[in-house]
Amino acid sequence: MDCEQAELQPINIYELVTFYPMFHQRPTGTHHLRVCRTLSCALGGSYTLHAHLCKKLGLDAHAHGAQTTEDGEFTVEFVECLASCGTAPVMMCNDKFYEGVSEVKADEIVAKVLEAAEMRE
Ligand code: FES
Repeated sequence: MDCEQAELQPINIYELVTFYPMFHQRPTGTHHLRVCRTLSCALGGSYTLHAHLCKKLGLDAHAHGAQTTEDGEFTVEFVECLASCGTAPVMMCNDKFYEGVSEVKADEIVAKVLEAAEMRE
């Protein structure tokens, strides 16, 4: 179905894709790491956590928007409140939710994901 058949203009699709954070304009990595950057998490260290993940995966923490590794394995992205402000900082890896994420815990999450991917190969 195209825009004409759906009686929509391309701007309507663009508005939809840019409003909802679960839609993306570009493909994401196999493992999508979403780090909350809203106030409670920012105060709890999410900017440090995001920078740590980017550095660990060879990504630019200061670049705008989602960053994806060259091999397409990981995307790291800041997102807005994930509704668990009392357990900041929080992040998601695909559909899994993690609370109180330290740099050590983030490393464990990445290692676990890589280990699971190796086992599938
Ligand atoms: S501020 Fe991070 S979950 Fe609400």
